[in-house]
Amino acid sequence: MDRIRIVGGAPLHGTIPISGAKNATLPLMIASLLTDETLVLDNVPRLADVAQMKRILSNHGVDHAVDGKRAGQNGMAGETLRLTAREIVDTEAPYDLVSTMRASFWVVGPLIARMGEARVSLPGGCAIGTRPVDFFITALRGLGAELDIDGGYVVARAPKGLRGNRIVFPRVTVGATHVTMMAAALARGETVIENAAREPEIVDLATCLTAMGARISGAGTSTIHIDGVDRLSGTRHTVLPDRIETGTYAMAVTMTGGDVLLEGARPDLLDTALGVVAAVGGEVTSTNEGIRVARNGSGLAPVNVTTEPFPGFPTDLQAQLMALVTRADGVSKIRETIFENRFMHVQELARLGADINLDGQHATVTGVKRLKGAQVMATDLRASVSLVIAGLAADGETVVNRVYHLDRGFERIEDKLGACGAAIERLSG
Ligand code: EPU
Repeated sequence: MDRIRIVGGAPLHGTIPISGAKNATLPLMIASLLTDETLVLDNVPRLADVAQMKRILSNHGVDHAVDGKRAGQNGMAGETLRLTAREIVDTEAPYDLVSTMRASFWVVGPLIARMGEARVSLPGGCAIGTRPVDFFITALRGLGAELDIDGGYVVARAPKGLRGNRIVFPRVTVGATHVTMMAAALARGETVIENAAREPEIVDLATCLTAMGARISGAGTSTIHIDGVDRLSGTRHTVLPDRIETGTYAMAVTMTGGDVLLEGARPDLLDTALGVVAAVGGEVTSTNEGIRVARNGSGLAPVNVTTEPFPGFPTDLQAQLMALVTRADGVSKIRETIFENRFMHVQELARLGADINLDGQHATVTGVKRLKGAQVMATDLRASVSLVIAGLAADGETVVNRVYHLDRGFERIEDKLGACGAAIERLSG
């Protein structure tokens, strides 16, 4: 298993290209199941989760191909991925494919909409909380599907097709909003989703579905209207930049000091998080090319932050923020409201010398003057990258084990940080 070795202390200077968003790419890839024509996605990040989604879609009969390198393109440019679901040969998503990545469960929506049936394994337990699928089940039942749970599988049938309805989510859910939007695109009549997720990735999927011929309005607000159509066509769509990768590197620069251009980043996708970075001590400037983050070396200020659905502070940046404020001058409070158990990084940050007190969903972080390198590991993606941020500022050597978690969501992190002066390398095996 690969590990990442970091020797802390170097400030970051240079340019980090921001990749396409993982959490937009995955539902966009799944949307290819809705049409027998080709969906072309540009700016696709090179990530383990994308490779896994290709495997899942292949099993349903989706052909996929990645364009070769083009003139003038450097190795950091996103890939162009062509997906064609001419014929869906299998409506089952088996346990061994679904269990490693929760988003693979989302194929249930397009499969039931296009094929009138789906048998999809329940996504297994997950390190960040229980993450049930009740909202998906209620929504798809609302659209007229019959659903049962049988032997760990959701078995869905809609022999006469889906019909539009009013779907009200009891709390904001990104995944079930994606799935309902995809299923309703091919349902008969109108669907209204209330309390819909407003995340930029929802807007990106809606934009792509609209280009495929879907009739969707209101994406990006809490009420989404979908007028079902008989069929969807292929299209070409560019994946939006990854706001979580952007926020992660913004926090890394604020942690180490330095001056970095986050190339291709869009500040409007993470206003709240950039506000927090600025409050801690990063100087954030929007430029034509992206976002510049700098810190002049003065101390870090403590903050009081609660995670919320978009446009609030994202849960996917909570661990990174916690790493950052371990060295603030004072006491920070961080409250996690999206996932009940997303604090796997706390113990590991403590191994580096952080002073964090956890009480249920509340973390109190008392800033320390110095962190000291150690062996660490984490069991989820965002927790892992928080350890990289801490390692960049810790004295001496930090080794982050179980790097495959990082590879799920951060494209070539060691190359991107290394190019800006970090002493970071991947140790194979
Ligand atoms: N929930 C239910 N029942 C459901 C669905 C969700 O109770 O049927 C609960 C969840 O357990 C959670 C809350 O509702 O407490 C919100 O979950 P949501 O459905 O919004 O999360 P998700 O769709 O499973 C996506 C991202 C996550 C991100 C969350 C919140 C993707 C592929 N995943 O997950 O990203 O944290 O939204 O923004 O888009 C990550 O990238 O590291 C990651 C975990």
